Amino acid sequence: MERTLAIIKPDAVERRLAGRIIQRIEEAGFEIRALRRIHLSTKQAEGFYAVHRARPFFASLTAFMASGPAVVLVLEAPDAIKKWRTLMGATDPAKADAGTLRKEFAQSIERNATHGSDAPDTAAVEISYFFAGIDLI
Ligand code: CMP
Repeated sequence: MERTLAIIKPDAVERRLAGRIIQRIEEAGFEIRALRRIHLSTKQAEGFYAVHRARPFFASLTAFMASGPAVVLVLEAPDAIKKWRTLMGATDPAKADAGTLRKEFAQSIERNATHGSDAPDTAAVEISYFFAGIDLI
């Protein structure tokens, strides 16, 4: 079993897509081990995306992530990191495969509906950014 962090981003929550995305998560066979609605401050968004701080899109990305509520989840499944990234599709919805969440729900490369961890070490850091050990028992 593996765990990954998923975020339903502010664009998707604002458009009332969270329920449909959670349904797709459940239908794909993930166990939802933790779930919380949050509204990040800009500082908290900057902390989460610190690895991207040198990128030209950093200020815009962190402002977007702080623009409204989001839903954060811990998903569990065999090979959960890859499985969730496959269900999301490519970062840029224009490049996402048919049937993926981003193809269906994303509006742009920034307003791309969902986030997922990219490796086991980043999943551990990202999960602990939002959830305490006691939330995951
Ligand atoms: P995510 O998977 O959360 O990881 C980093 C985020 O930065 C990404 O999804 C997009 O929302 C955003 N992003 C990545 N590349 C670009 C880009 N070229 N322009 C704007 N935003 C981007």
